[in-house]
Amino acid sequence: MIEVRDLHVFIGENRVLQGVSFGVREKETVAVVGANGVGKTTLIRTLMGLLKPAQGVVSLNGTDIGPLAPHQVVQLGVACVPEGRRVFKDLTVKENLEMGAYRKEARARMAKSMEWVTAMFPVLRQRWNQRAGTLSGGEQQMLAIGRALMARPNILLIDELSLGLAPLVVKEIFEQLREIRRRMTVLLVEQNVEMTLKNSDRAYVMETGRIVREGPSAELLHDPKIREAYLGL
Ligand SMILES: Nc1ncnc2c1ncn2[C@@H]1O[C@H](COP(=O)(O)OP(=O)(O)O)[C@@H](O)[C@H]1O
Ligand SMILES: [Mg+2]
Repeated sequence: MIEVRDLHVFIGENRVLQGVSFGVREKETVAVVGANGVGKTTLIRTLMGLLKPAQGVVSLNGTDIGPLAPHQVVQLGVACVPEGRRVFKDLTVKENLEMGAYRKEARARMAKSMEWVTAMFPVLRQRWNQRAGTLSGGEQQMLAIGRALMARPNILLIDELSLGLAPLVVKEIFEQLREIRRRMTVLLVEQNVEMTLKNSDRAYVMETGRIVREGPSAELLHDPKIREAYLGL
């Protein structure tokens, strides 16, 4: 579903991704973990068609997205929960969810999708007509996830699910991620290495623009080197 081969991406003069390769199979949840600044968001932005590879191939759902604009990537069935949530702060919860369903296939199923999303995150129903800017950080993250799901994607990209959120909220969101994982392919990029390894099938470890380790998440979670470098154990 996702295939990235020898990906090089520059931001200005800065060579941020330096030959990244990885793959995600259908219905798998794969994590890319690594410290702040290693290039995780750059990777997500490239997958969405927002940044163009200087070298290498990115294919999503079997299509090389190199020449595609972001809205065309969305049409392939890819949705994104961006870093920092980026909900539309002046729009209500309901309007934010509607914005997620602009894809034609999604618009026809909007009512059903709203039921699904609000069953997953009931607090969104309570906040229904409230402006998104008035929600807590956790509620905004739930809304950002809900908005992405409204597009009925088959690939969901999530950039920092847990960043800046209280542990209890993080736990709650990861619980709902289980239901999402059953239905679609998920790529999760995260600094919270432990939580992410516990909630993914396979993982890649990234350091300054390169993948340095990969394996089943359960294996990496128990790897002494990973535990020392990332879990402070
Ligand atoms: N808009 C930008 N302008 C210049 N450098 C950037 C920009 N965005 C990111 N970078 C640099 O690219 C590197 C990777 O950033 P990023 O992909 O955001 O990492 P991560 O998401 O892993 O924290 C960092 O060194 C950062 O300083
Ligand atoms: Mg980032």
